[in-house]
Amino acid sequence: MDRTHHRPPSGFSRRDFLRGSGAVAAAGAIVSQTQAIAQEAKGTRILSGEQTLALSVNGKDVKVKAEPRTTLLEVLRYQLDLTGAKPVSGDASSGASTVMIDGKPVSASVELAVRCVGKKIETVESLAKDAVPAAFVACDAQQCGFCTPGFVVATRAFLNKNPKATEEEVRKGLNGNICRCGTYANVIHAALMVVKGGANG
Ligand code: FES
Repeated sequence: MDRTHHRPPSGFSRRDFLRGSGAVAAAGAIVSQTQAIAQEAKGTRILSGEQTLALSVNGKDVKVKAEPRTTLLEVLRYQLDLTGAKPVSGDASSGASTVMIDGKPVSASVELAVRCVGKKIETVESLAKDAVPAAFVACDAQQCGFCTPGFVVATRAFLNKNPKATEEEVRKGLNGNICRCGTYANVIHAALMVVKGGANG
């Protein structure tokens, strides 16, 4: 079969058209991408080097030094000596570095310190007298304990929003945290104990 590319009398083939329209589409995509970057840059302050940041951590105003790339977890552990949140996965997949920022559970290992200015940061250390850690103890919801601070904070954040949560809701609500020792069943019991008003701390 002759697969020669025959040119129509106009000299402009379907193949030429497709090639041309592909190039136009690619050029259009580049233009809109450039526009998006320019728009994003507008009104954005570019930071470089070490900055002094004023943060609110566990109800206290503190000043820390951080580069734009410094994570909240690094600031908490190495400047403020709050070592409850753990560096486990570095990509938020374990939930071990969970803290609350403005009441929401966030992995401090992937949150930049500079983004936390003006927000309320709460770590597991702020929950020392809370019912959740007391329920974890009562339900024996830890083995090595490495995941426990993250689970405690995630549970408190979840129950603040869902104080009457069912077992199924608790399971779904805590599914961002991983326990390599497999204490999930007792973690669920602990959360449900708090729902029922137990372990008042
Ligand atoms: S208790 Fe060991 S990882 Fe959870």
